[in-house]
Amino acid sequence: MWKGKKGTQKINVLVSVLSLSLLATPSTSATTTESFVFGGCSQQKYTPGSAYESNLNSLLTSLVNSAMFTTYNNFTIQSPSSSQNTVYGLFQCRGDLSPGDCGHCVARAIGQLSSLCPVSCGGALQLQGCFLKYDNVTFLGVEDKTEVLRRCGPSVGYDSDSLTRRDAVLDYVAAGDGSSGAYKPYRTGVSGDVFAAAQCVGDLSAGECQDCLSDAVGRLKTYCGATAWGDLYLAKCYAKFTKGGARSNGGGGGSNDNNNDDEIEKTLAILIGLIAGVALLIVFLSFLRKVCEKGKGGK
Ligand SMILES: *[C@@H]1O[C@H](CO)[C@@H](O)[C@H](O)[C@H]1NC(C)=O
Ligand SMILES: *[C@@H]1O[C@H](CO)[C@@H](O)[C@H](O)[C@H]1NC(C)=O
Repeated sequence: MWKGKKGTQKINVLVSVLSLSLLATPSTSATTTESFVFGGCSQQKYTPGSAYESNLNSLLTSLVNSAMFTTYNNFTIQSPSSSQNTVYGLFQCRGDLSPGDCGHCVARAIGQLSSLCPVSCGGALQLQGCFLKYDNVTFLGVEDKTEVLRRCGPSVGYDSDSLTRRDAVLDYVAAGDGSSGAYKPYRTGVSGDVFAAAQCVGDLSAGECQDCLSDAVGRLKTYCGATAWGDLYLAKCYAKFTKGGARSNGGGGGSNDNNNDDEIEKTLAILIGLIAGVALLIVFLSFLRKVCEKGKGGK
């Protein structure tokens, strides 16, 4: 995709600046949408300055750009001359996020992942509001029910009625909108004081999503029992519930991020500025390159 070594190096520098500036954002501005859920890195490392690194940087730029406009996308970046150094990646925002919030969340995830996995070929990170993953082995469109994270709140008094309601609302979000059969990647449900939510990564088919979610919900009911809240994350989907509203980690899924809108807008403005800068630079560099090549050819 990118041509010219000089161009690629410049892009690397800019992308690192981008990640650094995001990391430097004070943690007090972190909204519940951006609180950390889990992250991990692959064993394999790449060589700094390699073609793989520049492909990875291109991928991350594509992901954060795309997240300004949509809640899911995937990219595959490979070097122009060979199929080696290919990097695959995707992001999935929680389905109720606005594109601006999604973009901000993915930018945050990229910043955190680059400090968590500085030279790993692959990495994955889940914040409350978004999931980001890349690797040099393809995982796009592959259903994966590996359990990544399970956590349960404290046991609370459920009468048998409310436990039945909890299970029913979990079944409801796992099954989606049964009447229309519509595929809805983010599903929420409320019954009494129980809130439940489920989300698949957008590369799963409708059938794979349902299969993944029914697995997640089954495990969640078994592991957590009568608790105030519970989360179960599989590699490609998750299900969670909260009874009685708030919980300490703010995972209820409500839209209580309004007081941070100003902060988000400011950061977003900076981010959009940087991305526009990168885009201009790419155009400029490819122009320069063409001019140089013409110059050389003329001699
Ligand atoms: C991924 O990277 C590792 C380490 O560089 C390498 O051993 C492995 O062959 C790569 N896999 C693919 C599919 O390129
Ligand atoms: C990846 O993205 C392309 C282009 O947006 C799309 O056509 C394709 O279906 C996506 N693949 C998966 C597995 O989501």
